[in-house]
Amino acid sequence: MSQTIIENWVKCVAEASQFFLEKKGPHCWLIKQSISTHFQRLVPLLSLSCFNALAGSILDVGAGTGALTLDLAWRAGNGGFVTALDNDTEALKIVQTIAERVGVRIATLAGDATALPVKDATQDMTVARFLFQHLPDPSAVLSEMRRATRPGGRIVIIDVDDEVLLCEPPEKQHMAEFRKAIRILQSQRGGNRLIGRQLYRLMREAGLEAIQVIVIPFVRLGLQNGRRSDIEAFKIERLKREREELIDSRIMSAQDFDAAVSELEQGFAEDRFEMDADFVAVGSVPAV
Ligand SMILES: C[S@@+](CC[C@H](N)C(=O)[O-])C[C@H]1O[C@@H](n2cnc3c(N)ncnc32)[C@H](O)[C@@H]1O
Repeated sequence: MSQTIIENWVKCVAEASQFFLEKKGPHCWLIKQSISTHFQRLVPLLSLSCFNALAGSILDVGAGTGALTLDLAWRAGNGGFVTALDNDTEALKIVQTIAERVGVRIATLAGDATALPVKDATQDMTVARFLFQHLPDPSAVLSEMRRATRPGGRIVIIDVDDEVLLCEPPEKQHMAEFRKAIRILQSQRGGNRLIGRQLYRLMREAGLEAIQVIVIPFVRLGLQNGRRSDIEAFKIERLKREREELIDSRIMSAQDFDAAVSELEQGFAEDRFEMDADFVAVGSVPAV
């Protein structure tokens, strides 16, 4: 697929999402983050064989505001039908509206990933992106995804592993502590920001076959080369909102938190290289 076609699609989604950014609602961050990383994430995803010739029923579990749902629906065209599932009904209203604006067909389904409201073996593919890092019981959700997927169908899980990080110049001390603190906070909330390395084991334990884990590097450069100041500012604002909880739960002292924020603010326009990665785990449900 040509770069121009992908660029036009990414632009189309960004324009259709603008309305929700202007409303400044609680989903603003998710939409903004998705738009800013859209092109860089979409290009390698499209090159994966599991996303070639998408067909049949595809269930996006924890679809949020639909960053992946919309791409899958666009990619599948008339050959497949994508359903966005989430326990956040507001997010589902947003993805439905954006889908209508960009002209792709999707369905939305409110429900919990631990008890998917779909019949057994009805999906040709189930996917979940950036959901597993939030789950207290990822095995239970994977087992539900397996139940919902037909024999021979595919399961794709995309997520992070926070320890995969390269920086030049190196990450400063407070920033490294900050990253660790956020990781601890997420684990106290029942999640796991090191889930990427566990996806292989989870898929093995779920009895999936033909498992592959593909690691896609994600690079951020200086502001001169694509890093966006509005996203950086937004990221800092979002981290500041965790101040009270981080301090109350004694994960970080107020002094360290404030030092980390000021380090971040100073490093805002730094011309730097950062690389982390998306882990893409693909497995098949054994054919009967
Ligand atoms: C970080 S967002 C990812 C959104 C989207 N998949 C993407 O790639 O941008 C995680 C989503 O998972 C949803 N979620 C978390 N736990 C869930 C659960 N138990 N059942 C259903 N959805 C859940 C949240 O509401 C949120 O929309």
